[in-house]
Amino acid sequence: MTPGARVAAAIVVLDSVLEGAPAERALTNWARAARYAGSGDRAAVRDHVFGALRCLRSFSALGGGGDGRALMIGSLRAQGIDPDIVFTGQGHGPAPLSDIEKGGGHTPSEAEARDLPDWLWPYFEASLGPKAAATAEALRHRAPVTLRVNARRITREAAQDRLSREGIGTRAVEGASFALQVLEGVRKISRSMLYREGLVELQDASSQAAMEAIALPEGARVLDYCAGGGGKTLALAARLDCDWFAHDAELRRMTDLPARAARAGVHIRLCDTRELDALAPFDAVLCDVPCSGSGTWRRAPQAKWALTPDRLRELTGIQKDILRRAAALLAPTGVLIYATCSVFRLENEDVVGKASGAAPGWSRRTCRRWQVDAEGDGFFLAHLWRE
Ligand SMILES: C[S@@+](CC[C@H](N)C(=O)[O-])C[C@H]1O[C@@H](n2cnc3c(N)ncnc32)[C@H](O)[C@@H]1O
Repeated sequence: MTPGARVAAAIVVLDSVLEGAPAERALTNWARAARYAGSGDRAAVRDHVFGALRCLRSFSALGGGGDGRALMIGSLRAQGIDPDIVFTGQGHGPAPLSDIEKGGGHTPSEAEARDLPDWLWPYFEASLGPKAAATAEALRHRAPVTLRVNARRITREAAQDRLSREGIGTRAVEGASFALQVLEGVRKISRSMLYREGLVELQDASSQAAMEAIALPEGARVLDYCAGGGGKTLALAARLDCDWFAHDAELRRMTDLPARAARAGVHIRLCDTRELDALAPFDAVLCDVPCSGSGTWRRAPQAKWALTPDRLRELTGIQKDILRRAAALLAPTGVLIYATCSVFRLENEDVVGKASGAAPGWSRRTCRRWQVDAEGDGFFLAHLWRE
């Protein structure tokens, strides 16, 4: 496909997303119909779409409108490319710009340039202080691709060496002992021997660093209360010799976990909600709770625009409820571990804070944050103990 044809395809996908389709589904639907598109074309269209979704407000200002076409005009202008070069109508490219489009668009205002809904900015300022602007800016750009090396099976240095022989260039990430940031060959990862053998997994560096900050004694009974695909438990189980239990309100979310655990060489018992009381008490319960995901919005940019004040309030209610339920499953000396990939105080310090009422009696606590930056996503981790 020509560069213009890729932009034309991105316009079609963006229009479908703007009508409410999830971006991944819209891209898959387009790719199914576009048999002529090779893997390079699909990756380029995907980059256009996700780039525009991360910068929806500023590209819309620059492009002079809110549809896919205006967003792609804005995207080109943001890169300093004259849209007339791409919008030629030649080689399946988009039609030339009209006079209105040529004269349209404006330099984004300060608020538009942040690429956040206005109501969220006070939450950024209140939660991040002087780092608010840098965080909003980081969320406008693509996230790094990071691998977690399975420490049970291979060292980081050996993994780096074997990956490089498969054409995958990486660098070690400081602050996360098993993390390798992929610098080249991203598209070769899923086909690489190391990935297929379970020696490396895709996992953000901040999630890895947070799991590394958890220390548990050998043989401890540990429940991952919101296990989902099990990425956090797998990271813990790669370092620590404990009895692992995984639970999720939606059992189907854990479908792939047994196979992933087997590949990683660890055993994790899946639990239904009805079994938990009988399996309790646990020495530690990890609650990697559902949240706004604001620390990961560069990976899932639609969520940035879909979040509402009501949903944010609802999420904090769910988070407190999960903490209360998890606390009831712990041994008297057990540790309650709370994690989110949110940057908001409201979902982090405020939920585990003494005044929240979510964990009465759990008055000893430590909190730690990871910022959204070139190394990894935003992440929050708290440990709580009873007095
Ligand atoms: C942030 S995701 C967990 C990601 C997972 N720990 C991982 O590392 O891949 C949150 C999970 O919480 C689950 N969940 C939502 N409400 C819940 C509840 N009330 N109790 C337990 N799990 C819940 C969701 O189904 C979702 O899988």
